[in-house]
Amino acid sequence: MSEGISQPDAPLAADRTAPAGDLFSKFDPLIKQREELLANGVEDPFSLVMEKVLSPTRAICNGRDTILLGTYNYMGMTFDPDVIEAGKKALDEFGSGTTGSRVLNGTYQGHKACEDALREFYAMEHAMVFSTGYQANLGIISTIAGKGDYIVLDIDSHASIWDGCALGNAEVVPFRHNDIDAMDKRLGRIPEGAGKLVVLEGVYSMLGDIAPLKEMIAVAKKHGAMVLVDEAHSMGFIGPNGRGVAEDQGCLDEVDFVIGTFSKSVGTVGGFCVSNHPKFEIMRLVCRPYVFTASLPPSVVATAATSIRKLMHGSNKRAHLWENSKRLHGGLRELGFTLGTDSPQSAIVAVIMPDLQRGAAMWEALLHEGLYVNLARPPATPANMTLLRCSLCAEHSSEEVETILGMFTRAGKATGII
Ligand SMILES: Cc1ncc(COP(=O)(O)O)c(C=O)c1O
Repeated sequence: MSEGISQPDAPLAADRTAPAGDLFSKFDPLIKQREELLANGVEDPFSLVMEKVLSPTRAICNGRDTILLGTYNYMGMTFDPDVIEAGKKALDEFGSGTTGSRVLNGTYQGHKACEDALREFYAMEHAMVFSTGYQANLGIISTIAGKGDYIVLDIDSHASIWDGCALGNAEVVPFRHNDIDAMDKRLGRIPEGAGKLVVLEGVYSMLGDIAPLKEMIAVAKKHGAMVLVDEAHSMGFIGPNGRGVAEDQGCLDEVDFVIGTFSKSVGTVGGFCVSNHPKFEIMRLVCRPYVFTASLPPSVVATAATSIRKLMHGSNKRAHLWENSKRLHGGLRELGFTLGTDSPQSAIVAVIMPDLQRGAAMWEALLHEGLYVNLARPPATPANMTLLRCSLCAEHSSEEVETILGMFTRAGKATGII
């Protein structure tokens, strides 16, 4: 950290004149937007510190006991006693890190056990664990679709999907969000004989809406395209066995590659791809974001494997999480908030704010009430919306959901949003 920060008389970085040809000048509009937001005295929504984490649903923030409603910790596995025990044991027995790539010294028995758990969870032939979900998308997409191939994807796709497309250098053809006809037309225009990959998500995390995967996959297959579905926000929760939206809609068998993350329902960090493709194992040698990075620490894969196995028996938790999602969605609508979806479709409930200033004010008012939600703003959001994204957890009690609705009522009235 710069010494200037602890010396009041030292000039701040912003006061110094930027050198000619400064490569940072492209960030000026964002710097200005941030300065304007903070000039109103609002707390910085993007640098909150969790001083202590008490459970999957509560933390101490700014010295205050705060309900967490923006962590994507859908199944509340982060404090599961078996998960924690598995992590501690692996830390003791295998050390703090692998210091190597999966293809050299970085495959321990825990990585294999984690891939076994995923294969069983999805009832699929192959599973490959990456260091993050971001790297899973980056690696799989860029490796299977290269120069001369075509990727047809939803315009609202996650950044890791776009970055995977860019890394592989394929032709990228976006279509309007969840628009089956638009997807059909784009696929129909691809030259005969070209390689085609359709990339979809089960749940779109900004608005919490789901994709009509069954229809979309049928269209993709009609055009001879392979299909990759990112189930980051549905794995563990949606579908009879928690396999995601494709399972729920009865089309998982038609999906060529499922991408997922350990950073949401699984409750740790890491990413994966599962597939039944007969040649899938070659990916371990050709996928650069798998080969050229260190593998996950033994404690992390041990927590992931334990959590995934417990999620196979999580139907009671899934049912309670649906109840929470329905109650919060219905309650917020009754209060007069504008929501991202007409009905609850996932564990994400997005509350649409009139603009960034009022969104930040509402975010701060909720924090002062003792509630943390995610503030999302353009350019990360669709249609330049400012959103308060709420993600529910299976560990939120029904009483907590009522408390949350009370907090929204008071904060909404105080900021004039309802
Ligand atoms: C749809 C989607 N895919 C992939 C990722 C990346 O996951 P990870 O946090 O494991 O990098 C995210 C994370 O937010 C996501 O929302």
